Amino acid sequence: MDDNNNNRGSWSSKTGFLLAIIGSAVGLGNIWRYPYMLYKYGGGAFLIPYFVAIIIAGIPLLILEYTLGHKFRGSAPLSFKRAASKFEWVGWLPTFVAFVIMTFYSVILAWAVNYFGFAFTASWGNNTSEFFTKSFLKLSGGPFEINGFQFQILISLLVVWLINWFVTYKGISGGIEKLNKVLIPTLLVLMGIVVFKGVTLEGAKDGLNVLFTPDWSKLSDIKVWSGAFGQTFFSLSLALAAIITYSSYLPKKTDLNNSAMITAFANCGFEFFAAIGVFGILGHMAHLHNVPVTEVAGNGGVGLAFMVFPQVFSEMGAIGKVLGVIFFLAIISAGLTSSVSLLEAFSASVIEKTGVNRKKIVTIASLVCASISLVYVSGAGLYILDIVDHYLNSFLVIGTGFLEVIVVGWIIKPNNLREHSNKISIINVGSWWNIIIKYVAPVILGFILVASIYEEITKGYEGYPVKALLIYGVGTSILIVIATIVATVKKWPDNLVDDYDKFDED
Ligand code: PFF
Repeated sequence: MDDNNNNRGSWSSKTGFLLAIIGSAVGLGNIWRYPYMLYKYGGGAFLIPYFVAIIIAGIPLLILEYTLGHKFRGSAPLSFKRAASKFEWVGWLPTFVAFVIMTFYSVILAWAVNYFGFAFTASWGNNTSEFFTKSFLKLSGGPFEINGFQFQILISLLVVWLINWFVTYKGISGGIEKLNKVLIPTLLVLMGIVVFKGVTLEGAKDGLNVLFTPDWSKLSDIKVWSGAFGQTFFSLSLALAAIITYSSYLPKKTDLNNSAMITAFANCGFEFFAAIGVFGILGHMAHLHNVPVTEVAGNGGVGLAFMVFPQVFSEMGAIGKVLGVIFFLAIISAGLTSSVSLLEAFSASVIEKTGVNRKKIVTIASLVCASISLVYVSGAGLYILDIVDHYLNSFLVIGTGFLEVIVVGWIIKPNNLREHSNKISIINVGSWWNIIIKYVAPVILGFILVASIYEEITKGYEGYPVKALLIYGVGTSILIVIATIVATVKKWPDNLVDDYDKFDED
């Protein structure tokens, strides 16, 4: 695969690309977020909306983003600019959302680095919830009580950022591809061990029953649906500029449809596989404490991986220590390949728009993003993280997905993309795809968006003070919109927009 399109870099092999894109998709979302979403929405209750979300939005949007990046050969803003000049901003919006997600994603990774260290001696003690909130995070009384910064998290955050920076600085084949070639196979082995052990523990069966029993009554709850769509986007790295950017580095002849399917199955398969291990372990925990599985994690949430799991590992003796080390190493491996894709998605857009070289942009972006990350290392960090994550994933990411299907469905026209991908793919995508992109996805995403905004306005979120939601949630969203406008208004370097290797034309 040679370098084309203004030396912007390319994958050195198809396997390298697939590993990288699977690496982007498989991340904290699969091991940390998915189980707590499942748990929060009653286990099996979540499976139906999640499955629907994958079929209706996940796979069609994956094909859309793969093809857009490949056909227009640019980061998200450049691809949109080339495809529909007036809609460049639809590429900037996810670019800046990716930037903000990176600020807290790196902090969760940093926690995992600390916990990896603790796991060797199970130094989180016997009361792991208290350890996590009081000793480790020094969680304050509310979202406005900053209460200083946590030194040990700062150090591991620095390590995470050094890796992010170094890998992205080294470029597509020289950095990102190499990282994924090492970490993805490692991750599979590590999670294989966790899942095997998880399902063979005493009481695991009860956990799996909760995972596999659908609760039809939950289907009328809009929160479950918006949670399922939000999780689908987050998990598949959709509507966050990463997929478009990664596929823009592909060579001319690539089976796009097949690659999109492989990515979806690998990610969702891994996610489900991980959930089996996680629920097995939760079942064991319930068995040890003689409580129902649905009560074992208390209010679960963000802390599931950092409170409940250490507790189980502690209670398992020596084998628990080994399992703890493996579990947190798996989280780190999965998270790094994803955080690097967020940094790449953001950097690629800025590199193209400013014409400044990769090394400079990646360095500046890492410095700025790492500095903002410090907010989450404070005593109020967990509250702010929870609010920002909720606003971005429930509104901005789904909103971007909505805009993408509208612009492709009605302006760029789905057939233009479908013909491009079908020409180079073995499996053809049928005209059903046009209907999903043009009608089905916009209606469903639009409905979820309006309903969840209504829910937010009338009910708030998790009992946080309105002021906190306005400042951290709405405030961050407004800043993202302002950044989107500023970036769109800036001029492109000469000739970049029209002058590129148009694969279709030769
Ligand atoms: N898909 C990643 C995960 O599941 O953890 C998160 C993510 C990475 C989202 C990169 C978006 C992205 F561009």
